[in-house]
Amino acid sequence: MAAKKLNLILISRDPGLLMELARDTTNEFHVRTVTVQADFSSDKKSLYDMLDSRLQCFDIVLLVNNVGTSHDTIDRFHVNTPDSLVSRMIHVNMMSMAKMTQMLLPGMLARRRGVIINVSSAFGRNPTPYLALYGATKSFVDFFSRALQKEYGGYQIAVQSLTPYTLSTNMVKNAPPTTLLPPADTYVCSALSTVGIASRTHGYLPHSILGAILDRSPSCVRLLCIKLFQYRASKFMTRLQLQQRD
Ligand SMILES: NC(=O)c1ccc[n+]([C@@H]2O[C@H](COP(=O)([O-])OP(=O)(O)OC[C@H]3O[C@@H](n4cnc5c(N)ncnc54)[C@H](OP(=O)(O)O)[C@@H]3O)[C@@H](O)[C@H]2O)c1
Repeated sequence: MAAKKLNLILISRDPGLLMELARDTTNEFHVRTVTVQADFSSDKKSLYDMLDSRLQCFDIVLLVNNVGTSHDTIDRFHVNTPDSLVSRMIHVNMMSMAKMTQMLLPGMLARRRGVIINVSSAFGRNPTPYLALYGATKSFVDFFSRALQKEYGGYQIAVQSLTPYTLSTNMVKNAPPTTLLPPADTYVCSALSTVGIASRTHGYLPHSILGAILDRSPSCVRLLCIKLFQYRASKFMTRLQLQQRD
Protein backbone atom coordinates (compact mmCIF):
# COMPACT_ATOMS: atom_id res chain seq x y z
CA MET A 1 0.00 0.00 0.00
CA ALA A 2 2.87 2.34 0.76
CA ALA A 3 4.27 1.40 -2.67
CA LYS A 4 1.00 2.76 -4.10
CA LYS A 5 1.77 6.05 -2.28
CA LEU A 6 -0.95 5.67 0.34
CA ASN A 7 -0.22 7.27 3.71
CA LEU A 8 -0.63 4.70 6.45
CA ILE A 9 -2.00 4.46 9.97
CA LEU A 10 -0.53 1.34 11.56
CA ILE A 11 -2.31 -0.17 14.56
CA SER A 12 -0.73 -2.93 16.61
CA ARG A 13 0.16 -4.00 20.13
CA ASP A 14 3.94 -3.62 20.11
CA PRO A 15 5.15 0.02 20.14
CA GLY A 16 8.72 -1.02 19.25
CA LEU A 17 7.64 -2.98 16.17
CA LEU A 18 5.29 -0.19 15.15
CA MET A 19 8.05 2.42 15.32
CA GLU A 20 10.43 0.22 13.34
CA LEU A 21 7.83 -0.53 10.64
CA ALA A 22 6.81 3.13 10.40
CA ARG A 23 10.44 4.25 10.05
CA ASP A 24 11.26 1.63 7.40
CA THR A 25 8.08 2.39 5.45
CA THR A 26 8.66 6.14 5.47
CA ASN A 27 12.29 5.75 4.42
CA GLU A 28 11.55 3.33 1.61
CA PHE A 29 8.33 4.71 0.15
CA HIS A 30 8.33 8.38 1.21
CA VAL A 31 4.79 8.26 2.58
CA ARG A 32 3.48 9.53 5.92
CA THR A 33 2.93 6.98 8.66
CA VAL A 34 1.12 7.32 11.96
CA THR A 35 1.29 4.61 14.62
CA VAL A 36 -1.32 3.75 17.23
CA GLN A 37 -0.75 1.16 19.93
CA ALA A 38 -3.85 -0.93 20.67
CA ASP A 39 -4.59 -4.35 22.08
CA PHE A 40 -7.86 -5.75 20.71
CA SER A 41 -8.06 -8.71 23.09
CA SER A 42 -10.88 -7.10 25.08
CA ASP A 43 -13.66 -4.71 24.10
CA LYS A 44 -12.99 -2.06 26.74
CA LYS A 45 -14.97 1.02 25.75
CA SER A 46 -11.88 3.13 26.41
CA LEU A 47 -9.98 1.29 23.65
CA TYR A 48 -12.48 2.16 20.91
CA ASP A 49 -13.00 5.68 22.31
CA MET A 50 -9.22 6.19 22.14
CA LEU A 51 -9.05 4.88 18.56
CA ASP A 52 -12.01 7.02 17.53
CA SER A 53 -10.41 10.17 18.87
CA ARG A 54 -7.01 9.34 17.30
CA LEU A 55 -8.50 8.57 13.86
CA GLN A 56 -11.13 11.32 13.68
CA CYS A 57 -8.83 13.87 12.03
CA PHE A 58 -7.90 11.64 9.06
CA ASP A 59 -9.78 11.12 5.79
CA ILE A 60 -9.55 7.35 5.80
CA VAL A 61 -10.46 5.70 2.48
CA LEU A 62 -9.08 2.21 3.07
CA LEU A 63 -9.51 0.00 6.12
CA VAL A 64 -7.77 -3.38 6.37
CA ASN A 65 -9.09 -5.53 9.19
CA ASN A 66 -6.17 -7.94 9.41
CA VAL A 67 -5.68 -8.59 13.13
CA GLY A 68 -6.31 -12.17 14.04
CA THR A 69 -5.36 -14.93 16.40
CA SER A 70 -5.74 -18.70 16.24
CA HIS A 71 -5.34 -21.91 18.25
CA ASP A 72 -1.84 -23.10 19.11
CA THR A 73 -2.62 -26.61 17.90
CA ILE A 74 -5.03 -28.34 15.54
CA ASP A 75 -7.07 -30.41 17.97
CA ARG A 76 -10.44 -30.95 19.58
CA PHE A 77 -12.16 -27.88 21.02
CA HIS A 78 -11.73 -28.88 24.69
CA VAL A 79 -8.00 -29.47 24.12
CA ASN A 80 -6.91 -26.47 22.04
CA THR A 81 -9.26 -23.78 23.34
CA PRO A 82 -8.56 -22.73 26.95
CA ASP A 83 -11.07 -20.43 28.58
CA SER A 84 -8.91 -17.33 28.13
CA LEU A 85 -8.62 -17.98 24.38
CA VAL A 86 -12.39 -18.06 23.81
CA SER A 87 -12.86 -14.45 24.79
CA ARG A 88 -9.57 -13.27 23.24
CA MET A 89 -10.25 -14.87 19.87
CA ILE A 90 -13.79 -13.51 19.73
CA HIS A 91 -12.59 -9.99 20.53
CA VAL A 92 -9.54 -10.00 18.26
CA ASN A 93 -11.08 -11.76 15.25
CA MET A 94 -14.65 -10.45 15.29
CA MET A 95 -15.23 -7.51 17.61
CA SER A 96 -12.26 -5.52 16.27
CA MET A 97 -13.54 -5.80 12.70
CA ALA A 98 -17.13 -4.87 13.56
CA LYS A 99 -16.09 -1.90 15.72
CA MET A 100 -13.44 -0.53 13.32
CA THR A 101 -15.94 -0.77 10.46
CA GLN A 102 -18.61 0.96 12.53
CA MET A 103 -16.12 3.73 13.34
CA LEU A 104 -14.84 4.42 9.82
CA LEU A 105 -17.75 3.61 7.50
CA PRO A 106 -19.70 6.87 8.11
CA GLY A 107 -16.69 8.94 6.94
CA MET A 108 -16.34 6.81 3.82
CA LEU A 109 -20.05 7.18 3.11
CA ALA A 110 -19.87 10.95 3.52
CA ARG A 111 -16.99 11.07 1.00
CA ARG A 112 -18.75 8.48 -1.18
CA ARG A 113 -15.61 6.40 -1.54
CA GLY A 114 -13.97 3.70 0.49
CA VAL A 115 -12.53 0.22 0.56
CA ILE A 116 -12.80 -2.22 3.45
CA ILE A 117 -10.70 -5.38 3.25
CA ASN A 118 -11.59 -7.98 5.86
CA VAL A 119 -9.16 -10.88 6.28
CA SER A 120 -11.25 -13.98 6.83
CA SER A 121 -9.87 -17.45 6.03
CA ALA A 122 -10.59 -20.44 3.84
CA PHE A 123 -11.30 -22.16 7.16
CA GLY A 124 -14.29 -19.82 7.52
CA ARG A 125 -15.94 -20.98 4.29
CA ASN A 126 -16.98 -24.35 5.73
CA PRO A 127 -17.16 -25.75 9.27
CA THR A 128 -13.59 -26.63 10.22
CA PRO A 129 -13.27 -29.44 12.77
CA TYR A 130 -10.18 -29.20 15.01
CA LEU A 131 -10.01 -25.41 14.44
CA ALA A 132 -13.65 -24.98 15.42
CA LEU A 133 -13.63 -21.58 17.12
CA TYR A 134 -11.12 -20.04 14.70
CA GLY A 135 -13.14 -21.25 11.71
CA ALA A 136 -16.35 -19.94 13.24
CA THR A 137 -14.89 -16.47 13.90
CA LYS A 138 -13.61 -16.32 10.31
CA SER A 139 -17.03 -17.37 9.05
CA PHE A 140 -18.42 -14.34 10.92
CA VAL A 141 -15.90 -12.12 9.12
CA ASP A 142 -16.88 -13.61 5.76
CA PHE A 143 -20.66 -13.33 6.26
CA PHE A 144 -20.42 -9.81 7.71
CA SER A 145 -18.29 -8.65 4.76
CA ARG A 146 -20.56 -10.17 2.14
CA ALA A 147 -23.63 -8.57 3.72
CA LEU A 148 -21.94 -5.15 3.89
CA GLN A 149 -20.88 -5.43 0.25
CA LYS A 150 -24.54 -5.82 -0.68
CA GLU A 151 -25.57 -2.90 1.57
CA TYR A 152 -22.91 -0.41 0.49
CA GLY A 153 -21.74 -1.58 -2.97
CA GLY A 154 -24.03 0.99 -4.56
CA TYR A 155 -22.41 3.84 -2.59
CA GLN A 156 -18.88 3.52 -4.01
CA ILE A 157 -17.81 1.50 -0.96
CA ALA A 158 -16.13 -1.82 -1.81
CA VAL A 159 -16.10 -4.45 0.93
CA GLN A 160 -13.90 -7.47 0.32
CA SER A 161 -13.76 -10.78 2.14
CA LEU A 162 -10.34 -12.41 1.75
CA THR A 163 -10.26 -16.14 2.41
CA PRO A 164 -6.69 -17.44 2.11
CA TYR A 165 -5.62 -20.95 2.97
CA THR A 166 -2.45 -21.25 5.03
CA LEU A 167 0.26 -18.57 4.69
CA SER A 168 3.82 -18.67 5.96
CA THR A 169 3.53 -16.10 8.78
CA ASN A 170 4.01 -15.91 12.55
CA MET A 171 0.61 -17.56 12.95
CA VAL A 172 2.03 -20.84 11.62
CA LYS A 173 5.51 -20.33 13.18
CA ASN A 174 6.84 -19.16 9.80
CA ALA A 175 6.70 -22.66 8.30
CA PRO A 176 8.90 -22.87 5.17
CA PRO A 177 7.09 -21.30 2.19
CA THR A 178 5.88 -23.40 -0.75
CA THR A 179 3.57 -22.64 -3.67
CA LEU A 180 0.58 -23.56 -1.53
CA LEU A 181 2.00 -21.85 1.55
CA PRO A 182 3.18 -18.45 0.27
CA PRO A 183 5.00 -15.86 2.37
CA ALA A 184 2.99 -12.81 3.40
CA ASP A 185 4.48 -10.43 0.79
CA THR A 186 3.70 -12.78 -2.12
CA TYR A 187 0.16 -13.23 -0.85
CA VAL A 188 -0.42 -9.51 -0.23
CA CYS A 189 0.79 -8.57 -3.74
CA SER A 190 -1.58 -11.08 -5.25
CA ALA A 191 -4.52 -10.20 -3.00
CA LEU A 192 -4.18 -6.44 -3.60
CA SER A 193 -4.54 -7.00 -7.34
CA THR A 194 -8.06 -8.33 -6.70
CA VAL A 195 -9.37 -5.26 -4.82
CA GLY A 196 -12.29 -3.69 -6.67
CA ILE A 197 -12.54 -6.78 -8.88
CA ALA A 198 -13.58 -9.55 -6.49
CA SER A 199 -15.67 -9.01 -3.36
CA ARG A 200 -14.97 -12.52 -2.04
CA THR A 201 -11.77 -14.26 -3.02
CA HIS A 202 -8.99 -16.55 -1.83
CA GLY A 203 -6.75 -13.78 -3.16
CA TYR A 204 -4.07 -16.06 -4.59
CA LEU A 205 -4.38 -18.34 -7.62
CA PRO A 206 -3.08 -21.63 -6.10
CA HIS A 207 -5.50 -21.13 -3.17
CA SER A 208 -8.36 -20.39 -5.58
CA ILE A 209 -7.66 -23.66 -7.40
CA LEU A 210 -7.51 -25.59 -4.12
CA GLY A 211 -10.70 -23.85 -2.94
CA ALA A 212 -12.55 -24.63 -6.17
CA ILE A 213 -11.80 -28.32 -5.57
CA LEU A 214 -12.40 -28.44 -1.81
CA ASP A 215 -15.57 -26.29 -1.79
CA ARG A 216 -17.16 -28.85 -4.14
CA SER A 217 -15.88 -31.88 -2.24
CA PRO A 218 -17.88 -33.80 0.37
CA SER A 219 -17.16 -32.82 3.97
CA CYS A 220 -15.28 -36.11 4.55
CA VAL A 221 -12.66 -35.02 1.98
CA ARG A 222 -12.25 -31.66 3.73
CA LEU A 223 -11.93 -33.51 7.05
CA LEU A 224 -9.22 -35.69 5.54
CA CYS A 225 -7.33 -32.56 4.42
CA ILE A 226 -7.55 -31.09 7.94
CA LYS A 227 -6.22 -34.37 9.35
CA LEU A 228 -3.33 -34.25 6.87
CA PHE A 229 -2.70 -30.61 7.79
CA GLN A 230 -2.80 -31.56 11.49
CA TYR A 231 -0.27 -34.37 10.89
CA ARG A 232 2.12 -32.09 8.96
CA ALA A 233 1.76 -29.28 11.53
CA SER A 234 2.56 -31.62 14.43
CA LYS A 235 5.63 -32.99 12.58
CA PHE A 236 6.78 -29.43 11.89
CA MET A 237 6.29 -28.43 15.55
CA THR A 238 8.27 -31.45 16.76
CA ARG A 239 11.12 -30.55 14.38
CA LEU A 240 11.02 -26.93 15.53
CA GLN A 241 11.14 -27.94 19.21
CA LEU A 242 14.11 -30.26 18.54
CA GLN A 243 15.96 -27.46 16.69
CA GLN A 244 15.28 -25.05 19.59
CA ARG A 245 16.59 -27.62 22.10
CA ASP A 246 19.88 -28.11 20.14
N1 LIG B 1 -1.29 -17.39 8.44
C1 LIG B 1 -2.31 -18.07 7.92
O1 LIG B 1 -2.18 -19.24 7.57
C2 LIG B 1 -3.64 -17.39 7.68
C3 LIG B 1 -4.56 -18.01 6.83
C4 LIG B 1 -5.79 -17.41 6.64
C5 LIG B 1 -6.09 -16.21 7.26
N2 LIG B 1 -5.16 -15.63 8.08
C6 LIG B 1 -5.52 -14.37 8.72
O2 LIG B 1 -4.61 -13.39 8.31
C7 LIG B 1 -4.56 -12.34 9.28
C8 LIG B 1 -3.12 -12.01 9.59
O3 LIG B 1 -2.52 -13.12 10.24
P1 LIG B 1 -1.01 -13.57 9.98
O4 LIG B 1 -1.06 -14.87 9.30
O5 LIG B 1 -0.24 -12.45 9.36
O6 LIG B 1 -0.56 -13.87 11.46
P2 LIG B 1 0.32 -13.00 12.45
O7 LIG B 1 1.64 -12.77 11.86
O8 LIG B 1 0.21 -13.70 13.76
O9 LIG B 1 -0.44 -11.60 12.47
C9 LIG B 1 -1.53 -11.38 13.28
C10 LIG B 1 -1.74 -9.90 13.36
O10 LIG B 1 -2.79 -9.67 14.30
C11 LIG B 1 -2.31 -8.78 15.27
N3 LIG B 1 -2.89 -9.10 16.58
C12 LIG B 1 -3.03 -10.31 17.13
N4 LIG B 1 -3.58 -10.19 18.36
C13 LIG B 1 -3.78 -8.86 18.55
C14 LIG B 1 -4.31 -8.11 19.63
N5 LIG B 1 -4.75 -8.67 20.75
N6 LIG B 1 -4.37 -6.76 19.50
C15 LIG B 1 -3.91 -6.16 18.38
N7 LIG B 1 -3.39 -6.83 17.31
C16 LIG B 1 -3.33 -8.16 17.42
C17 LIG B 1 -0.82 -8.95 15.30
O11 LIG B 1 -0.26 -7.75 15.79
P3 LIG B 1 1.05 -7.72 16.72
O12 LIG B 1 2.09 -7.15 15.84
O13 LIG B 1 0.66 -6.82 17.82
O14 LIG B 1 1.33 -9.14 17.16
C18 LIG B 1 -0.52 -9.16 13.84
O15 LIG B 1 -0.44 -7.94 13.15
C19 LIG B 1 -5.32 -12.89 10.50
O16 LIG B 1 -6.61 -12.31 10.53
C20 LIG B 1 -5.41 -14.38 10.24
O17 LIG B 1 -6.53 -14.97 10.86
C21 LIG B 1 -3.94 -16.19 8.30
